[in-house]
Amino acid sequence: MYGITGYSNGYHQNQQQQHSSEEKRGGGRRRRGGRRSRHRHGFGVSDDHHQQHYNNDETQEQKSPPPCTDFDMAYFHSYAHVGIHEEMIKDRVRTDTYRAAIMEHQSFIEGKVVMDVGCGTGILSIFCARAGAKRVYAVDASDIALQANEVVKANNLAGKVIVLHGRVEDVEIDEEVDVIISEWMGYMLLYESMLGSVITARDRWLKHGGLILPSNATLYMAPITHPDRYNDSIEFWRNVYGIDMSAMLQLAKQCAFEEPCVETITGENVLTWPHVVKQVDCYTIQHDELESVSTRYKFQSMMRAPLHGFAFWFDVEFSGPTNSPTNNPIPPLLTGTSNNNHVDGIQKKKRANPNEALVLSTAPEDPPTHWQQTLIYFYDPIDVEQDQVIEGSLMLSQSKENRRFMNIHLEYSSGGRSYVKESVMR
Ligand SMILES: C[S@@+](CC[C@H](N)C(=O)[O-])C[C@H]1O[C@@H](n2cnc3c(N)ncnc32)[C@H](O)[C@@H]1O
Repeated sequence: MYGITGYSNGYHQNQQQQHSSEEKRGGGRRRRGGRRSRHRHGFGVSDDHHQQHYNNDETQEQKSPPPCTDFDMAYFHSYAHVGIHEEMIKDRVRTDTYRAAIMEHQSFIEGKVVMDVGCGTGILSIFCARAGAKRVYAVDASDIALQANEVVKANNLAGKVIVLHGRVEDVEIDEEVDVIISEWMGYMLLYESMLGSVITARDRWLKHGGLILPSNATLYMAPITHPDRYNDSIEFWRNVYGIDMSAMLQLAKQCAFEEPCVETITGENVLTWPHVVKQVDCYTIQHDELESVSTRYKFQSMMRAPLHGFAFWFDVEFSGPTNSPTNNPIPPLLTGTSNNNHVDGIQKKKRANPNEALVLSTAPEDPPTHWQQTLIYFYDPIDVEQDQVIEGSLMLSQSKENRRFMNIHLEYSSGGRSYVKESVMR
């Protein structure tokens, strides 16, 4: 989604090694938006402004939607840029899977009322209208909604797709909806905190027994080795045109690895099966569950290698309400022990039979998406032997300053030594 743009850590994926994967995908992918610095500094929305929209009367507080902060406004502003939508729409894995999910649930959508939470250019709303929806409320707080309205008109769908330019927290519609569709997933699944707006829409308008697409999501982590990346950013300084620039090493490590990196890795970088950090059931998840997510993990490296950090990725499933994980809390792909949540490695990437849910995966072994993977690198690698245990804990929490940013507290130990790494995804 939005955010991480280019790398403030100085690493650019258009370096030789990354080029090929970029080119395979049609090249030129930019991270969603170019907004890191804009978010950091925001643009001033004074308290007065809040006052204009929201009554501070405590008796009304419970009913009032959360205030639209200056960070939220910067966030919506970032989605007014065409580039971010071009990138998402050109991500065929993403867009084709959503379209396939809509067609798969066509019998549920035909003649029904749909809400597209965060419609952007209106693409998913139009897919739903073409699948036979009676009415689609296409909601977006960004000025991209103005474009969506034009797109809808140009496709003669103005009578069916109603574009609402505002936050789902604020807009009013006078009917319930049968279906909620949304593409809300950020890097590391939860970055950007858009899922909260889907919860709000669900609680405000979804009929009992209604459909949510996607229906559930899973965030994974796994230890990785990535010598090429480490050499490229760090070892490089040891000998630069015959000059010993080792004095640069500490600064290079700090700059390269202080913050999470969004990069594409492959299955070969991954040292063992992933651990499930968080499972989200879109039918039942509550706002407070998103404020902080914690897990303990334990891996056993499947090979001898330098351990450079951890990779994070996610998948989402498009199940109908009757298939909702509410009725099936342990997805069949998870067979590991309860203490380490190992996955059996036969993840449900593509459906083996048509009764299984359609999955949009951002795993390293699957075709790349614009989400890539999120990497948290250590400043110094740890040499691990085959079967060596790597264990620790992770806490992801919404930043108090800006809930769209994510604080990451990572503890890890291996070979008798323990470490802590704090970082912020902004
Ligand atoms: C990742 S984009 C998806 C756009 C489009 N659905 C697509 O699939 O191409 C998310 C969109 O949701 C909008 N959005 C995020 N939170 C929202 C909220 N609370 N209310 C309205 N729109 C929101 C953003 O402005 C952005 O355009």
